Amino acid sequence: MCGSPPFFFIESDLFSLTPLLPYPKSYGRLLKETRKEAEEKKVIDLAPMDFKPDQYARVLLGTPNWWGGLSTPVRSFIRQYDFGSKEIALFATHGGSGIKSVEEETISLLPLTSHFLGTLSIFDDGEGRLEKRCQEWLEKLEKEKDKYKKNTDNRIYGGSNINAAAL
Ligand SMILES: Cc1cc2nc3c(=O)[nH]c(=O)nc-3n(C[C@H](O)[C@H](O)[C@H](O)COP(=O)(O)O)c2cc1C
Repeated sequence: MCGSPPFFFIESDLFSLTPLLPYPKSYGRLLKETRKEAEEKKVIDLAPMDFKPDQYARVLLGTPNWWGGLSTPVRSFIRQYDFGSKEIALFATHGGSGIKSVEEETISLLPLTSHFLGTLSIFDDGEGRLEKRCQEWLEKLEKEKDKYKKNTDNRIYGGSNINAAAL
C-alpha cells in the first residue's frame, strides 16, 4: 500500500470495511445519521470478511475523521476483534480539524496489551508533500518491525502475513 516502485511500499493484505446496512445516499441524511452514531459511540454490523486476526502481528487501521472521532465502521471493526499483543498503527484522514481525537478514541478502544505505534495524519494541502510523508511513515514502521517481537506471541509472528491494513 501507499505508492508503488520505485517508491517505498509494504506488502499487506487489505480489508475494506462495508456496513451491512448501507448508509443513506442523501448527504444530509448521512450527516444526520453518522452524527448520532458519533454521539452514541455506536457500533454497527459489518459485512462478513475473511479477516483472521491471529494471522497478523501488525494491523494498520485507516479511517476518516467523522465528527471528531473514528468513523463508525472502523470503530465497529476495532470493537469486534481482539487486538491484544498486536502492533497497531493508525492512518487517518480529516477535513481540517486534525486527528488527535481520532487517535485518542482508537487508543481508548485498544487493549492495554497491544502496542500502539503512532498515527499518520493525512490532509492534502495541495503542496505535494503527502506521498513523501506517507512513504516516510511506512519506512519508519518497517524499521520498527521487531521492536515488540520478544513480548508477543511467536505464533502470530510465525505466519507469512504479518501486515493487515483495514480501512
Ligand atoms: C460524516 C462525516 C463527518 C466528518 N466529520 C469531520 C470532522 O469532524 N472533522 C474533519 O476534519 N473532517 C470531517 N469530515 C471530513 C472527512 O474526514 C474527510 O472527508 C475525509 O477524511 C477525507 O477523505 P475523503 O477524501 O475520502 O472524503 C467528515 C466527513 C464525513 C462524511
